[in-house]
Amino acid sequence: MTIDVILGLQWGDEGKGKIVDYLATKYDVVARFQGGPNAGHTLKFDGKKFILHTVPSGIFRQELINLIGNGVVIDPITLERELANLDTAEVEYRSRLLVAKKAHLILPTHRLLDAANEAAKGKEKIGSTLKGIGPTYMDKTGRNGLRVGDTLLPDFMERYNSLKNKHLGLLQALPKVEFDLEGEEQKWFASLNTLRSLTLVDGEYFINQKLKDGKRILAEGAQGSMLDIDFGTYPYVTSSNTVTAGVCSGLGVAPQRVGEVIGITKAYCTRVGGGPFPTELLDETGDFLRTEGAEFGSTTGRPRRCGWIDLPQLKYTIMLNGVTQLAITKIDVLNKFEQIKAATQYRYSGLTTDQLPFDLCGLPLEPVYEDFEGWQQELDEAKDFDALPKAAQGYLDALERYLGVPITMVSTGPERESLILKGVLK
Ligand code: GDP
Ligand code: IMO
Ligand code: MG
Repeated sequence: MTIDVILGLQWGDEGKGKIVDYLATKYDVVARFQGGPNAGHTLKFDGKKFILHTVPSGIFRQELINLIGNGVVIDPITLERELANLDTAEVEYRSRLLVAKKAHLILPTHRLLDAANEAAKGKEKIGSTLKGIGPTYMDKTGRNGLRVGDTLLPDFMERYNSLKNKHLGLLQALPKVEFDLEGEEQKWFASLNTLRSLTLVDGEYFINQKLKDGKRILAEGAQGSMLDIDFGTYPYVTSSNTVTAGVCSGLGVAPQRVGEVIGITKAYCTRVGGGPFPTELLDETGDFLRTEGAEFGSTTGRPRRCGWIDLPQLKYTIMLNGVTQLAITKIDVLNKFEQIKAATQYRYSGLTTDQLPFDLCGLPLEPVYEDFEGWQQELDEAKDFDALPKAAQGYLDALERYLGVPITMVSTGPERESLILKGVLK
């Protein structure tokens, strides 16, 4: 059996939660492979709305196993809060939620360091979600980190104090920020008991056994490919590999095990936080997209920056991920537009090209746009592709032609059912 992958092709918030929740019934296991509570994945069904940060988006589908993989960084406090929400909604998860022992822990001092590092950067700040992601991955690669499995060791407190003291030392050189460390530590240790009460597993053995048993597995990405630590708009990125390659290291599966790679993109583009965004619209069109798309962060509530879809950018991330199918989300957000634009090339350094430059930061880069006719009507009635307005079909066909990958899903609203299947998926 192979493992299918769903991931974001832009700067995050493409609608991964919705699509994973929809497709989950086709799978036996859904597994998160990287990132942490910087993610906010929204699911809407039966008139209810849930935002998941750590728990995989398959949790609302009965019978399905959900694994938090070794590549994820976990803040026990956020996880406990998410589990409390599931308890309130009477969702049974204890028998279905597994945590890899090799996943790293976000300590309260990681969050404090995140805030102090951002304060030190001033105007150059990344716009981090301040969830402690960067400092936790730094400790992982620096070989200082604490893992979920370490919490079971008799000397865990010594390890914790040693890492905390290292952090307090680092904080001496950084600006002071408001943070109730004692209060946060109390919460952290209390929530650690909840984490320990879950089923902790050797994730790599678990997942490979499931593959051997012929079970169907879906890997759920967080963030987006343009936030990848290696290939994103560095340094305005997150601290993990958000691309397909991250599935192998974040779950412990071999590359030849990867099957379908479903890339998700909005029908336009957004980004939250700092960093380059070639097609950003700093005018009333951008504001209109924000209002129509309710573009406010699921994790931080910050307004998202909005712009037109960027096809050279998508071509790049399709290449990096080996995307085999595309899911286009939020097409309904374009309903009222008379005209829609898509960037098809860039102009920079005397070139007109569809290749991204080495560094998007600080480079005067001008997107070249193609115009598309809008459809100016609601899409609620359209239950299959042929029922979409001709202009919407034309726009989607053009995206498919340019990107060279089949569109198999078109999302027309936030609800679980607002999804049109096309081609092989139909
Ligand atoms: P994720 O991080 O990729 O899971 O995406 P988020 O949940 O952060 O952001 C996507 C937002 O768009 C959420 O509020 C979703 O409920 C919403 N959404 C998802 N698909 C659609 C769609 O097709 N149309 C509209 N209007 N909203 C959508
Ligand atoms: P989902 O999974 C959108 C952005 C932050 C910031 C940068 C670094 O919901 O798509 P970090 O907290 O990782 O140090 O922040 O990355 N960012 C996201 N933007 N969606 C996300 O996740 C994001 N996770 C991180 O805004 O610019
Ligand atoms: Mg999100």
